[in-house]
Amino acid sequence: MKSFKLNNGIDIPAIGFGTWQIPEGEEAYQAVTEALKVGYTHIDTAAIYGNEKSVGRAIKDSGIARDTLFITTKLWNTERGYDKTIAAFEKSLTDLGLAYIDLYLIHWPANESQFENWATINAETWKALEYLYQQGKVKAIGVSNFPKDYLAKLLETVTIVPAVNQIEFHPGYLQQETVDLCKSNGILVQAWSPLGSGRILQDETLIALAEQKDTSVGQICIKFALSQGILPLPKSTNPLNIKRNLTVDNFDLTEEDIQTISELPTMGFSGSDPKKVAF
Ligand SMILES: NC(=O)c1ccc[n+]([C@@H]2O[C@H](COP(=O)([O-])OP(=O)(O)OC[C@H]3O[C@@H](n4cnc5c(N)ncnc54)[C@H](OP(=O)(O)O)[C@@H]3O)[C@@H](O)[C@H]2O)c1
Repeated sequence: MKSFKLNNGIDIPAIGFGTWQIPEGEEAYQAVTEALKVGYTHIDTAAIYGNEKSVGRAIKDSGIARDTLFITTKLWNTERGYDKTIAAFEKSLTDLGLAYIDLYLIHWPANESQFENWATINAETWKALEYLYQQGKVKAIGVSNFPKDYLAKLLETVTIVPAVNQIEFHPGYLQQETVDLCKSNGILVQAWSPLGSGRILQDETLIALAEQKDTSVGQICIKFALSQGILPLPKSTNPLNIKRNLTVDNFDLTEEDIQTISELPTMGFSGSDPKKVAF
């Protein structure tokens, strides 16, 4: 598995396995077990997904050496603030059954539609992540769903620059300004819903490209994220798709293909604007 290097020197496997909406229990256990079996070494979960216990059990039962895996989880919105963040982190660690986390993210920023002091809340929460990092309980810390100006605001207060910003990114929804700010600050962008959560798989341009390359639209989307220096986190519970999504070295996207995908009209947006969401 290829990797990206985070701004603190840590290597992160270049494709991660997404686990949102995979129910706790047998389904999450089987999906993660399958992913680990076919070669994923990077798993993305979150406290709010409710499946950390099954993800952790699959990791343990795989017998794969812990230090060859990269595990991300996220702080849920109800747990913001210094003390609550530290307690929430400990709970995730326990639920996953791990001694440390590779990457811990603030799942969503406190936003201006819910909080007058949103910037202060985000800065305090970040301080807790810095503390956890300094304690060695997490190998890297980052944020998720921070739009350009929220990230810029946070950067004014940090001691440690976030290693990652995990944002919605797929053909038809590129968030270029946020991506540019991340890149200019050495922050790796991770693509959530790299396949638009399935909403863009019927796009005719993408289908034509996939046919031309003898691959699938999902793989085109994953390769496109990688071509932009962005780390995709595809999710699947289907063994065929789980495997396919890791197989992107058997075709190329030309500069022209990348241009074509970049210029697709807006499509597949989740509808979750971080500045407006009510959760
Ligand atoms: N930080 C955040 O706020 C946030 C938000 C959303 C998501 N995420 C992360 O990003 C991950 C991915 O996002 P996502 O789960 O929304 O969706 P996604 O990976 O963009 O798409 C998943 C959907 O596409 C289908 N699929 C997967 N591979 C396919 C392929 N090769 N061909 C055809 N269909 C395929 C899946 O169905 P099958 O299961 O049937 O294959 C599923 O319906 C999440 O699981 C989560 O880890 C983070």
